[in-house]
Amino acid sequence: MELQNLKHAGLKKWIEEAAALMAPDSVVICDGSQAEYDRMIQITVDAGLATRLNPAKKPNSVLYRSDPSDVARVENRTFIASKSKDDAGPTNNWIDPAELKHTMTDLYRGSMKGRVMYVIPFSMGPIGSGIAKIGVQITDSPYVVANMHIMARVGTKVLDVLGTDGFYVPCYHSVGKPLAPGEKDAGKWPCAPIDKKYISHFPETREIWSYGSGYGGNALLGKKCLALRIASVLARDEGWLAEHMLILKITNPKGEVKYITGAFPSACGKTNLAMLIPTLPGWKVETVGDDIAWMKFGADGRLYAINPEAGFFGVAPGTNNESNYNAMQSCAKNSIFTNCGLTEDGDIWWEMIGHGAPGKTIIDWKGQTRPAPQTDKSPKGEEIAHPNARFTAPAKQCPCIAPEWEDPKGVPISAFLFGGRRPSTIPLVNQSLNWAHGVFMGSIVGSEVTAAVISDQVGQVRRDPFAMLPFCGYHMGDYFKHWLKLGASHDESKLPKIFFVNWFRKNDDGKFIWPGYGDNSRVLAWIFDRCDGKDNYVQTAIGNLPKPEAIARPDGVSEADLKAITSVDIEGWKKEIADVRKNHYPKFGDKLPAELYAELDAIEKRLNA
Ligand code: GTP
Ligand code: SPV
Ligand code: MN
Repeated sequence: MELQNLKHAGLKKWIEEAAALMAPDSVVICDGSQAEYDRMIQITVDAGLATRLNPAKKPNSVLYRSDPSDVARVENRTFIASKSKDDAGPTNNWIDPAELKHTMTDLYRGSMKGRVMYVIPFSMGPIGSGIAKIGVQITDSPYVVANMHIMARVGTKVLDVLGTDGFYVPCYHSVGKPLAPGEKDAGKWPCAPIDKKYISHFPETREIWSYGSGYGGNALLGKKCLALRIASVLARDEGWLAEHMLILKITNPKGEVKYITGAFPSACGKTNLAMLIPTLPGWKVETVGDDIAWMKFGADGRLYAINPEAGFFGVAPGTNNESNYNAMQSCAKNSIFTNCGLTEDGDIWWEMIGHGAPGKTIIDWKGQTRPAPQTDKSPKGEEIAHPNARFTAPAKQCPCIAPEWEDPKGVPISAFLFGGRRPSTIPLVNQSLNWAHGVFMGSIVGSEVTAAVISDQVGQVRRDPFAMLPFCGYHMGDYFKHWLKLGASHDESKLPKIFFVNWFRKNDDGKFIWPGYGDNSRVLAWIFDRCDGKDNYVQTAIGNLPKPEAIARPDGVSEADLKAITSVDIEGWKKEIADVRKNHYPKFGDKLPAELYAELDAIEKRLNA
């Protein structure tokens, strides 16, 4: 469609102003067609940024290698620019919105010279459904356009829903690398230096301005920027939840169904849990979503969740036919790979893919030719695939996608899981005593920082409340309050039960005690039965833990090991609680709800009893 033919006057004006500022060679309104997707791929192949994979191995798929400085989200360059600094709170970076817009306007001036400005109308959630939110992203990256085609519903049909005056979240994106006359990308991933990158959110005016990065959550603005940071603000104002959660459907051997969501920090197992193949006979898991859940109350008082996305932007390393067969199938064709290895026979490869690489050599994520690895492991720092290498795959290609995954009504949730990577202290599974205790536990979640973020803290445990530390668009103390309020204002018997899980306990040799992946079904089965009120638990100081024998023990886990990860480590928990009191809760000042201090006092008392 031509810009002149846009029916939405406000949108047309916004695009014209952006084009005047960013000075692209031309403007293209994306229609969302297959032809458009193919064109984006061809443009990037011609620019030397993409390699087509061998169609006999990965039909209709491509590999990109990003700049080594542009491999993950950049939390220290991510900003919540609310009018008042206090609304962004202690966990977000804040710049005054007027000042930030001034700085970024200077950066955007002429930033698209020599490039095409693409305008992507997108819907998070099924198009036209009451729960969906529309955004329009302006970008100079054809890689972003192609990824948005997979991750969201895009194109003309979204404009039809917008009509002449519909509401949309305006999203600016530029990679920040204008081209001089005659200059080409010539194989060099375009982006700006780290101190010029800005991933900015203006919560009051519902705007997103991103500059300088072409990667993942920094650049695919429907995902973390809109569906979490902006949506969390909408959810607070309107009484619903926008969460960093997978959504799964689980069926027990009797054919009874429940839906469960789970919030784990980045690269801590959401995609894997959402697609797991149970090792427990007779159980079945299907996928509704793998990263984000939007949840609203139904007329029946239950919480219903939808997945606002249309694809998976999944962590590649560690994914293999054993650990996640369904993810491997999801990205078997029509997929985009970023920062994976390229084998001699034109296929992708990554660490823990389940086999060595064929042939004599392989090209690593930096474009270097290296000896083909014989096993699927590489020494730390010498990986063939970047640890945050990703696949972008259409959700509809997932063999275990639930038939109702696009139902605009959403699915009724029975349980919330929270968790993270904790080598010690936190048990395999623990049920909260009630809603307020569950919110308390969610507020103190800790996890080792992963490669999903560029940080010098990788590997260290940090508090990541509700797995929302980098994604909450307002003051985290108010976010806790929002959760408490939802509980207090609804019938608790209809609310999801709250559980804490930890697949990542290690033994003295540094090895994982719990096998994880498909064996996590053993824990899901316990949770399923808990939701039905089954007497399979013992009440402890920290919550309800499984009775001995209540979790079916997998091969390779000794009775003593299982006991160790399903009992209370009193001394470890005392340290945990002392750390929360000294270092975590004080950050939130008087915004920390009194109910949570009461929970802290209560658990401390129980641990000392
Ligand atoms: P984001 O997309 O960043 O939000 O990550 P995610 O939470 O979806 O994490 P994902 O499922 O992609 O898993 C990330 C890494 O954790 C992969 O390398 C997995 O192999 C590993 N992992 C996932 N589940 C388990 C598990 O149950 N046990 C162990 N030990 N590792 C796991
Ligand atoms: C995460 O970091 O939680 C992701 C990947 O899901 S990104 O889209 O880059 O945010
Ligand atoms: Mn995520």
